[in-house]
Order: sequence, then structure tokens, then C-alpha cells
Amino acid sequence: MINIALFGCNGKMGQVIAGIVNGDADAKIAFGFDINTEAKNSFPVYDKIENIKEKADVVIDFSHPASLDSILKYCESNSVPAVIATTGLSDDQLAKIDVLSQKVAVFRSANMSLGINLLINLVKKAAALLEGKFDIEIIEKHHNQKIDAPSGTALMIADAISDTLTEKGEYVYDRHSVRKKRSKTEIGLHAVRGGTIVGEHDVIFAGNDEIVQISHSAMSKEIFAEGAVKAAKFLVGKGAGMYNMQQLIEE
Ligand SMILES: NC(=O)c1ccc[n+]([C@@H]2O[C@H](COP(=O)([O-])OP(=O)(O)OC[C@H]3O[C@@H](n4cnc5c(N)ncnc54)[C@H](O)[C@@H]3O)[C@@H](O)[C@H]2O)c1
Repeated sequence: MINIALFGCNGKMGQVIAGIVNGDADAKIAFGFDINTEAKNSFPVYDKIENIKEKADVVIDFSHPASLDSILKYCESNSVPAVIATTGLSDDQLAKIDVLSQKVAVFRSANMSLGINLLINLVKKAAALLEGKFDIEIIEKHHNQKIDAPSGTALMIADAISDTLTEKGEYVYDRHSVRKKRSKTEIGLHAVRGGTIVGEHDVIFAGNDEIVQISHSAMSKEIFAEGAVKAAKFLVGKGAGMYNMQQLIEE
């Protein structure tokens, strides 16, 4: 039985995680952490880490960048590993997570679904083959409640492509302010927000008279929650370090 500390427990993803863990005989939510402590939960919820009484084996975080310092402090002082799924973190915050990973096991991914990780493998292959001949553009679509843009997943895809290219990609987020033709090294990133779209990512390789498009559509939030719970189980007992979905799939 693993005991999970659920950060962001009263958000949309937190509630989905709580539902999945509720039906899992091998896991339980030891406590939640959220600035919203009004909602009804079947586990204790805290908004200050100093008040936490229960012990946890692993943290799952689907909250907000503003809660990161609490998570880091909690994990470091209790030697608890963390699955960090919150997106929109700054470079400074990512550096702090790297520091934490020198002390405990950390699994950070802007997208916990298996499908997106497969898409990343496929686009890396396509980018290596089509480099210099095809223009690369990424379009992501999400619900109208999403705060950050472009999505952490779109950036993760762009980073994977850029690392594959011999010449690093130049990210272009907004075309309305600059009036010039795109260069061959650009990777365009475009965000659409509307309704209840769970998450769609299209990677377009546009060449002369032909287009290759690789797409992923998330149909429910469960795919992210299930991936995060799997990652949490995978992390328990692991030594300090940064872990990813590729390692989880291989194991
Ligand atoms: N990695 C993935 O696969 C993946 C998938 C879906 C969502 N996400 C990310 O997870 C995060 C949460 O998504 P959501 O849709 O559940 O959002 P949400 O807004 O519904 O929930 C966020 C929760 O965090 C709480 N919160 C906000 N600030 C806080 C703070 N300072 N301290 C403690 N709690 C705080 C809010 O009260 C809320 O309950 C977002 O960053 C989102 O982009 C990641």
C-alpha cells in the first residue's frame, strides 16, 4: 500500500486522481494539500505544510506553480519523492526541482499520458528525416480554463524536436507582431483555448506540396491521472534522481 500526498487535491485533476486512488487497493491518499480547504474530501486537507500530521510515501502534484515552494520544502524535509505534473513553471522553478532531484527521486512531465510519449518518439524520427526540407509547426488546443500558454506539452514536444535537429529550433510564439517570412529553423507554437477541450496536439511538417501531421487527442483527464499514479508507484523506493516516462515504460 502506498500513501500519497496529493497537492492540488481540490482541482479538476486532483479530484480525478482521488477517484482513481479510491478504487485502487494498492494506494491511498494520506492527505491533500490545497489553498481551497472548503471542499469535502475523504482525507484531511492542509494549506500549510507545518500542520501536516500524516506520513506519505510519495507526492503527486497537479496544482499551481505558486505551490512549488511548499512541495519542495515538504519533500526535502521528509525525504519524500515527488511526481510533479503542474505546468507553467518558470526556469528558476525548474532549476529548484533539479536541486531537489539530487536529494530525492523526482518524476516531472508536462504530460503524463502514454500516447504523448509515443508521439514524441515519432516526431523525433520525423524531424531527423525531414530537417531542412519541411517547416515544423505545433498547434495545441485546450479548454477555456487553462492558464498557461503554450501548453507544457507543446513545449516538451518542441524541446524534443529541437534536441534532434542539428541546428537548434528557434521558437516563434506569435506571428502577428513581426512581418517577415518564417526561417527554416523556426518551430512555430500556437495555442487555441475553448470550451472543454481536454488536450490536443498537432505537429505539422509542411514541405513542398506535401504535409506530414502527427496528432494526439486526449479524450479524458483519466489518461493523465492514471499515468501520474503509475509514476508515483514507480518512484517509491527509487534513489535520488530525475526520472521520466520513457524509464517507466521500459520498467
Ligand atoms: N502533466 C500532465 O499530464 C497534466 C495534465 C493535466 C493538467 N496538468 C497541469 O496540472 C495543473 C492543475 O490542473 P487542473 O486542471 O487540475 O487545475 P485546477 O485549477 O482545476 O486545480 C488546481 C488546484 O490547485 C490549487 N492551488 C492553486 N494555487 C495553490 C497553491 N498556491 N497552493 C496549493 N494549492 C493551490 C487550486 O485551489 C486548485 O484546487 C495545471 O498546471 C495543469 O496544466 C498537467
